[in-house]
Amino acid sequence: MNNQNPITAIEAIDSIESTFHTENNLRRAHSTGVAFDAIFQPSGAAVPWTTAAHLQKTEVPAVVRFSHSSTNPNPNERLSPVKGMAVRFQLPNNTYTNLTMVNVPIFISKTPEAFIRLIQAFDSNSTWSQRIDALMHNTEYKTFGTILKELKPFRNFESLHYYSIHAYFLKNADLERQAVRFEWQPLTQNDDATSNSMENELIHKVQQGPPVRFRLLMQLAERGDATADPTIAWPDDRKLIEAGILTLHSLRTDNAESIVFDPTVTIKGIECSDDPVLHFRSAAYNESAKRRGVIKA
Ligand code: HEM
Repeated sequence: MNNQNPITAIEAIDSIESTFHTENNLRRAHSTGVAFDAIFQPSGAAVPWTTAAHLQKTEVPAVVRFSHSSTNPNPNERLSPVKGMAVRFQLPNNTYTNLTMVNVPIFISKTPEAFIRLIQAFDSNSTWSQRIDALMHNTEYKTFGTILKELKPFRNFESLHYYSIHAYFLKNADLERQAVRFEWQPLTQNDDATSNSMENELIHKVQQGPPVRFRLLMQLAERGDATADPTIAWPDDRKLIEAGILTLHSLRTDNAESIVFDPTVTIKGIECSDDPVLHFRSAAYNESAKRRGVIKA
């Protein structure tokens, strides 16, 4: 790869595999986590903006997977501060749509190429000073300082906020389009951490109650807000719509290992923005899924 040529998903996953420890049968990022069956109850407040089935008024079953971003099967929870929350809304006729989010509102780079160059800069031949230099002094990664500040101390998965980072376009019955970004806002008040792992802590809370819930917020863009650049947050005063509430119900015995939470899978009433990182994720997740044996190579 050089700075001019677009990267392929194969090159991207090869770079991850040569820089980090990965396991054949696990995801090439966010390799460990815990998955639940859940119910999403839409509030109906999104109806003026979209015809999307999961954002109307009828409840929808969902699968939710929380993860540590590390590629390592035994990640140190604290040294892997980026956490994931992936949600699949299961709709009639075997259709579905995904929201695959993390606990920071912006991404480290505007393009997939710059992100993979950063991964390559972290390979075993580089020193820590070269790595810090790549992050601190390269203008491609100028959001690094902001991301560090956003990574507030955490104790568990269930009290974090998770963000789609990318914009999506909602389409309503009159075919009007509105750019939005999504956020899961935790509704859990109990912030104790009594178990030996974040996974066990969450399993315990889901089994013992009170219910573990998240509110889905949609931030509405205004004219001029960037929709194809994941490094730029929209101003805080943008209108927020409360689209519904997700309640975790029971631990999944398959841990959602065979699910690919491709964030570009959308349904009528919602479309992907032109963000190049969003589109690249689809190819990268599918390449990772092939290598871990859950879809055909
Ligand atoms: C070019 C940028 C990116 C690349 C190359 C990349 C790569 C990957 C790969 C290979 C996986 C494993 C997929 C699988 O095997 O099913 C993964 C999972 C994941 N990624 Fe990314 N990713 C990128 C950007 C992002 C962004 C911007 C977010 C958040 C908005 C994100 C959130 C996640 C989450 C939450 C998972 C775990 C999904 C699950 O539970 O299955 N990634 N990523």
